[in-house]
Amino acid sequence: MRKTNLAADLLEWYDTHARKLPWRVGPAARSGGQRPDPYRVWLSEIMLQQTTVAAVSDYFQRFTTRWPDIHALAAAPDDEVMAAWAGLGYYARARNLLKCARAVSVGHDGRFPDTRSDLLTLPGIGPYTAAAIAAIAFERPETVVDGNVERVMARLFDCHTPLPAAKPELTALAETLTPSERPGDYAQAVMDLGATICTPRNPACGICPWRAPCLARDRGTAAQLPKKTPKKPKPVRLGTAYIARRIDGALLLERRPDKGLLGGMLGWPGSEWQEGSVPNHAPPIRAEWKTLPAEARHTFTHFHLRLSVRTALVPMDRAPGTGEFFAPDRFRPSDLPTVMRKAFDLSLNT
Ligand code: ADE
Repeated sequence: MRKTNLAADLLEWYDTHARKLPWRVGPAARSGGQRPDPYRVWLSEIMLQQTTVAAVSDYFQRFTTRWPDIHALAAAPDDEVMAAWAGLGYYARARNLLKCARAVSVGHDGRFPDTRSDLLTLPGIGPYTAAAIAAIAFERPETVVDGNVERVMARLFDCHTPLPAAKPELTALAETLTPSERPGDYAQAVMDLGATICTPRNPACGICPWRAPCLARDRGTAAQLPKKTPKKPKPVRLGTAYIARRIDGALLLERRPDKGLLGGMLGWPGSEWQEGSVPNHAPPIRAEWKTLPAEARHTFTHFHLRLSVRTALVPMDRAPGTGEFFAPDRFRPSDLPTVMRKAFDLSLNT
């Protein structure tokens, strides 16, 4: 396989088939000299580690409208950024996002470093994000490897080593293809190929720009690749959340500690979450508590959670043992992390 032909064929495909994405400078504008804004590249790549392009688009538009540059984001209050991130998951990433914005705004005069190794020194920027920003924003010939790219490489080279053990091998193979010309467009082209043609199921091999050199297509193995080592089943944790509504409509919430799961986010007071049985726990305020018939269920990276939801209506003069009442104009349910939002939705519908 000739590296230059492979890259050139893919770039030619990208010139007509690049997805139009809110943070992207498309190939025509790029060749006309328009440069991507490193702030927008960075923000989009951090968001895209969480979820799909479709889900990120709205968040990206909202963030960039409200905080159009790195200085604006760096100056934003923590709780506003956490609330704007709500629903994206992995809240430690939002805290690192702010740390990174402040480091770049203050320590680097608002300019992102332009090499992979310098980018790696910033909070929340790991090998994937450093390579993506260096390639896309600064035209460095770095190799960007995400799940899409791993799948494309496993098929192109007919690699049967199961993931995650195959990662170093697939990264090394991907590195052999990265061109020195247009590395930013090339990085985005491989990701687009994986997202639109070389899809997990039913890859569209017939219209793939790499159909001729693809070994898996030649050998009929594309649909089985990449191989994956089966994951261990996730344990189930149990807990209780308390939703207290005061008669004026205010809701009893507490901000979770910065460290740990959902760190820095608003949530309902409640018990620890543990395996085996629901932990014994005292309600956060004296009231007549009712347990809802359905649980709020949510899956985190390492466990499934089943949250028993208890609700109560409390009089104006009663003080909580923990948390703080938020009047309806001080908080929106969409500010809550998804699991807390699910508990709230249950309380409204039952
Ligand atoms: N997924 C993650 N980053 C991406 C990008 N820059 N273009 C397309 N898909 C992506």
